[in-house]
Amino acid sequence: MVSIKKHSKLPPGPVSLPIVGHLHLLSPFIHQSFHKLSSIYGPLMYLRIGSNDCIVASTPELAEELLRTNELTFSARKHNAAIDHLTYNSSFAFAPYGPYWKFIKKVSTIELLGHRTLGQFQPIRTQELHHFITFLLDKSKALETVNLTEELLTLTSNFISQMMLGIRCSGTGEHPDGVRTLVREVSEIFGEFNVSDVIWFCKHLDLQGIRKRFEDIHTRYDTLLEKIISDREQVRKLKKRDNDDEVKDFLDMLLDVSEDAHSEVQLTRTHIKALILDFLTAGTDTGASSIEWALAELINNPEVLREAQKEIDQVVGKDRLVQEFDTGRLPYLQAIIKETFRLHPPIPMIIRKAVEECKINGYTIPAQSLLFVNMWSIARDPKVWEDPLKFQPQRFFIDNNTIDVKGFHYQLLPFGTGRRGCPGMSLAMLELSVTLAAMIQCFEWKVAETANTGSGSVCVDMTERPGLVVPRANDLKCVPVARFTPTLFTS
Ligand code: HEM
Repeated sequence: MVSIKKHSKLPPGPVSLPIVGHLHLLSPFIHQSFHKLSSIYGPLMYLRIGSNDCIVASTPELAEELLRTNELTFSARKHNAAIDHLTYNSSFAFAPYGPYWKFIKKVSTIELLGHRTLGQFQPIRTQELHHFITFLLDKSKALETVNLTEELLTLTSNFISQMMLGIRCSGTGEHPDGVRTLVREVSEIFGEFNVSDVIWFCKHLDLQGIRKRFEDIHTRYDTLLEKIISDREQVRKLKKRDNDDEVKDFLDMLLDVSEDAHSEVQLTRTHIKALILDFLTAGTDTGASSIEWALAELINNPEVLREAQKEIDQVVGKDRLVQEFDTGRLPYLQAIIKETFRLHPPIPMIIRKAVEECKINGYTIPAQSLLFVNMWSIARDPKVWEDPLKFQPQRFFIDNNTIDVKGFHYQLLPFGTGRRGCPGMSLAMLELSVTLAAMIQCFEWKVAETANTGSGSVCVDMTERPGLVVPRANDLKCVPVARFTPTLFTS
């Protein structure tokens, strides 16, 4: 009650307890807890989590008011001990909106994730996709079960680690599995509520063992990255630096900037390690879990799968594997992706921090409040979406045919919005569309438990797992049954 008395015009919220505030009302699935509380206290709600003021917003109108009209007020991000430690306090994704953030935003949008670089890496993405499809075809021939959760994580890790570091993080590479495993551990720990972060007198305690875990992850990550960077520095010393046509990965781009004495911002080795962690974690789990949710929905909705197969067969034909350039001509596939993002936003809440006090709908939002725009909750609101719990891609052809994912339609913000919106959106949409299309084109999917008995279709379980990215709780295990075997080139 302390802060409610202090700020008389705070948005409504439940009565809070001393010290913990509303912490006791939250489950590990924070977006679900907020959803339930919002149904009682309204779409703009105030909570106190330990010593943090928190605002939860759950309508498209509020999302627009907070993230567009008051964009600069909510341009910072929340921090916690795990984020600060793991990102060497030098992150881009968690940096305040200032000169360092602006500089990296420019480098990443123009160079790493710009149109030209995405085009240059297209053959590598295609090669990775071919590896993946070849692997699945082999499993299909052998009638073997595939753990798709693991394989999709490997695929998206390979996509991103090839672009960042020029390495594959699976199979026969020099750093097998290291990057992939670390990335999932990092995104899990970033999303956990650590009592030591929110209750001041627990600051130096490690009641949940989270500090021990993030220190261990940090040591492993730092060792791995030190080795990758030192190896690259050796290669750069030996190489003649006059080849402008060479495709540079992100590490090379960052080392170039760090060696440029006239650069606007002087990048150190610590910055480089932090930035690599930022992009690897932001770009791996999000993509893998989106493809997995989409496939799980297709298995549970066979009529949607049939429609998608029909579209791909008509547009691409049966002579070749679908390619990135085809995906723009597959509107039903794009609707499936939007519908997946709607019901299962990989990042269920857009989380920002207020840099100053502001007024919304007559209520005071205190400076330093954490803002949670609950996209998961908006997706389940019958006032926003008809039959919100149903997976219906066709909804994007009827009333909602102009809605896209670019951050201007506040009922669907899978990549966030505005200046702090996701810089990896174009890359993510390329990877996701072509991978899902190829999985639909080449295979029928039998859920593992029924695959051998042929006892008909079972529903895939859609339970969530907590974290910053919300994947399915249980690994998706299927036997792929080939419906089309393309000629592929793998090396
Ligand atoms: C399906 C895939 C992805 C989804 C759903 C996704 C979603 C998001 C969301 C919701 C945000 C926060 C936006 C906001 O606050 O308004 C974000 C930020 C970010 N994403 Fe993504 N993302 C994906 C893929 C990627 C990829 C492939 C990369 C890079 C390779 C990436 C890099 C980042 C970075 C660096 C930020 C922080 C930006 C900033 O703070 O300014 N993301 N992403």
